[in-house]
Amino acid sequence: MTQEQFKAHDTKVASHRKELLLSQQGELNAVLMYQRLAKVVKAEREREAFLQLAREEGRHASVFHAYTKQALKPKKTMAIIIPLLYRILGKKRLYKLIAKGEYKAAAQYEHLITDFPELESVKNDEKRHGDIVSAYL
Ligand SMILES: [Fe+2]
Ligand SMILES: [Fe+2]
Repeated sequence: MTQEQFKAHDTKVASHRKELLLSQQGELNAVLMYQRLAKVVKAEREREAFLQLAREEGRHASVFHAYTKQALKPKKTMAIIIPLLYRILGKKRLYKLIAKGEYKAAAQYEHLITDFPELESVKNDEKRHGDIVSAYL
């Protein structure tokens, strides 16, 4: 990259910093959530799928980290309440909620792709995550 391109990139990051950090935080939280969910589910197939999703959320967090250059810590709230939600809502309703969250993330990342092209694959992953979780309904 030329000096100019570096500057342009920094400006883009600066003007979207809050949103990028929020997204990075959401991705980190999702890692814990899926890891915790993998412990709760009964079917081996689902357990493996959720562990894979956790790994992919980790990759997403690192994509945002590459922009923000800021280390964040995952928030455990969602991971803590996930076993509770699994019992209270039941698997179907919980998976529906999670799938909805994945599709929502995909939609939220859409407008960032022009400035942050690496988010295209992240967006596609979120759509795929929604489909995977929906398939287990
Ligand atoms: Fe993600
Ligand atoms: Fe996801």
